[in-house]
Amino acid sequence: MNSLLKDAQKAGERVGLKSDKIVINGGKPLRGRIEVRGAKNLATKAMVAALLGETPSLLKDVPDISDVGVVTGMLNAYGVSVTQVAPGELMLDPSNVLKAHFAEIDALAGSSRIPILFCGPLLHRLGEALIPDLGGCRIGDRPIDFHLDALRAFGAIVDKSYEGIRLTAPNGLKGAEIHLPYPSVGATEQVLLTAVRAEGVTELKNAAIEPEIMDLIAILQKMGAIINVEPNRVIFIEGVDELRGYTHRALFDRNEAASWASAALATEGDIFVGGAKQQELMTFLNIFRKVGGAFDIHEDGIRFYHPGGALKPVVVETDVHPGFMTDWQQPLIVALTKAEGVSIVHETVYENRFGFTDALIEMGADIVVHKDGLYGLTRRVPQRPLEQAAVITGPTPLHGADIRVPDLRGGFSHLIAALTAEGQSTISNVGIISRGYEHFIDKLDALGADFIYEG
Ligand code: EPU
Repeated sequence: MNSLLKDAQKAGERVGLKSDKIVINGGKPLRGRIEVRGAKNLATKAMVAALLGETPSLLKDVPDISDVGVVTGMLNAYGVSVTQVAPGELMLDPSNVLKAHFAEIDALAGSSRIPILFCGPLLHRLGEALIPDLGGCRIGDRPIDFHLDALRAFGAIVDKSYEGIRLTAPNGLKGAEIHLPYPSVGATEQVLLTAVRAEGVTELKNAAIEPEIMDLIAILQKMGAIINVEPNRVIFIEGVDELRGYTHRALFDRNEAASWASAALATEGDIFVGGAKQQELMTFLNIFRKVGGAFDIHEDGIRFYHPGGALKPVVVETDVHPGFMTDWQQPLIVALTKAEGVSIVHETVYENRFGFTDALIEMGADIVVHKDGLYGLTRRVPQRPLEQAAVITGPTPLHGADIRVPDLRGGFSHLIAALTAEGQSTISNVGIISRGYEHFIDKLDALGADFIYEG
């Protein structure tokens, strides 16, 4: 049973109700300890990397989230057996890779962005790849042009059909010089997963260097790859003839850690996030401190808390690593509704990531979204044509409302908003949160939230 169904079932048993919503009585600080496990945005890619090995791989600290279920289903469809050998530990055996039935992958691909990353490994293993329409959160157009251009540079032939995109490589894949127009996380992963087995050397310029990418490179090195990360976003990959399986513990989920940190701040609470580490969260920690949050770094995690006193407004620009991640802005904005003054959040990564603010405004927040961005201000991050800005004026008390979750991170910020609000909120479509937040219902329970989950 996948995590989504398990979460729903567990909570359903607790309250004896059936449907996908949560009723929250706000106003109670979240206090206690929770654990974060491996990052959604690493574990799912590490699972795809296992396709490249000649022998089985063992991935540890895999989160029990529905995106992992989707990738497991995709791998199964291609003949890779995925077995849970211990809690959070998956054995991935690619010894019998085979062509999948289109209907099987089509049914799964519609709920995730990961299938595009199967292209390189499938071209190496099977000589062709078929990518159906992609899913994932609705946070902008999310095109795949960088991916397809990179695959063409390796020698792949791309045909678009009514089913999706079919790729073949009649002459094999050869190392290439690739310059990404933007340091895209997914496109960088695409190049890595393709170049490691391509013939010759690949030079990738303007690569993304997120910690999850560095962890993927570590995994590929364990498998036998030769990858050099040079200064200025340049990565050299020397193709090899064969890769073996890996044993690896996934990097912790820094997006989940930052989300619970914002929940602690917004609810005036105190949360110890076990498994969180300082290094990968440095940029977040600086902003958290500037807003008025406090944290203590421990060996086994980070304690995030509201130390008392007023919260302060900030100006934040989302950016690629080492900047402030786009995934951190939504939960933080709830805390910013409590800050005294005007905060500005510039979203420079995606063109549609403020949709969740509509619900916050309904709950009493003073937020104005500038759909074409706010220019003429001192900026650190280069302006992008797609960017928007949210201006948050606080403090504004929030009151309960009926909300429908639009996407993963926006959904988590709605949970936080409801937890801070006066009165009762009903949030529907919360299942989407299980795509990336492991056992969030149990964690809310452990932190003392007052809610009923209707699963
Ligand atoms: N882009 C293109 N063409 C492409 C690829 C990307 O124009 O071919 C653009 C996108 O439209 C966007 C920008 O480049 O404007 C950045 O996209 P990127 O490729 O970096 O993002 P992604 O790989 O699709 C991953 C995470 C996101 C996270 C971003 C940024 C996964 C599965 N997703 O997406 O995570 O926000 O990197 O760090 O790893 C989430 O976890 O909720 C989530 C959305």
